[in-house]
Amino acid sequence: MSKSFPNPKQIRNIYEQAYVAQILRIAILLDIFSYLKEGRSSANSVADMSNNNPVGTEKLLECLYSYGLLEKVDHEYFLTDTTRTFFLKDSSAYVGDWLLEVTNPVVFEGILDSIKTGKKISRSLPWHQLAWSESYAVDRIEDSLSLWEKAGVQPGSDSDFHVLDLACGSGVVSLALAQRYPKVRVTGVDSSEVVKAAEDLAKRLFVQDQADFIDGDVHLMSFEEEKYDAVLLGNVTGFFTVQQNKDLFMKIHQSLKPGGKLLLDVTMKRQLNMRHENLGITSLLLWSIWGTEYYSYEEYEEWLISVGYVEVTQLSSLWLIANKAISK
Ligand SMILES: C[S@@+](CC[C@H](N)C(=O)[O-])C[C@H]1O[C@@H](n2cnc3c(N)ncnc32)[C@H](O)[C@@H]1O
Repeated sequence: MSKSFPNPKQIRNIYEQAYVAQILRIAILLDIFSYLKEGRSSANSVADMSNNNPVGTEKLLECLYSYGLLEKVDHEYFLTDTTRTFFLKDSSAYVGDWLLEVTNPVVFEGILDSIKTGKKISRSLPWHQLAWSESYAVDRIEDSLSLWEKAGVQPGSDSDFHVLDLACGSGVVSLALAQRYPKVRVTGVDSSEVVKAAEDLAKRLFVQDQADFIDGDVHLMSFEEEKYDAVLLGNVTGFFTVQQNKDLFMKIHQSLKPGGKLLLDVTMKRQLNMRHENLGITSLLLWSIWGTEYYSYEEYEEWLISVGYVEVTQLSSLWLIANKAISK
């Protein structure tokens, strides 16, 4: 075994990363980006407009500049494309509330209490803001196309290929397929605020005529029978209890055409053996807020087979496919 040494750099990295989130929290709480909305401004004019202390304001602006969240020329600060898009309150893609929630000390105190007592904490997340930010994640288009390709989904040019994207968020995964194949028709389901982000992305990808989005709770709504060629559940089954997943898989089975496919894009438990810091925190959040966890491929396989799916296959560490039999 190799000898290890105490590593102060590891400690420094941890608190230095935390500084960025703390500074951004302060900037969002002061709505400091809004004072740069019209263009370049000095620290003194931002302090004047925002009624804050000039020295403190300059120090804050310098922090934001040092983290690449502002640009600066000749002692005047201005917004980057990222801060203009995501941190101006009147931008449709504003994510300030999401950022405040996921870094909220109150949440982490709740988690501390959860760890001590096992009690769950109750939080409601501004999912629409995550959907807006994801709608700008261009790398997800390529990833999404790889998922469909690996799942063997190659819609032809003769008839419509119906995709139901449940808890669709930005809808990027199914909209990427629609962009590649003109016969794809997407129905996306999420809350009313979230689907606005998906509708906007559909327009930006020029596939708005191929996509409809519905405000709904996937546990409460019913789906049209034998309508869909493919159903997608992306990054959401971990938030659902075992029973909710089983019930949903059954409803989806009824909504699929014979031979139709259910695709799950989800972190599966086996990966927790890997050292990946975000999996640890996400798993902790799932447990303390939703009372759920990452499920394993074997668990999903068992639930899917129990409600009638066939050919359940793990396509990758994140992707799983299950088919509806062609004939009964
Ligand atoms: C982590 S996001 C995943 C979004 C998208 N599927 C993706 O992969 O990018 C989880 C989404 O699930 C939605 N959601 C959670 N529970 C839901 C439910 N019961 N009905 C509909 N949508 C739900 C949230 O609003 C959120 O947009």
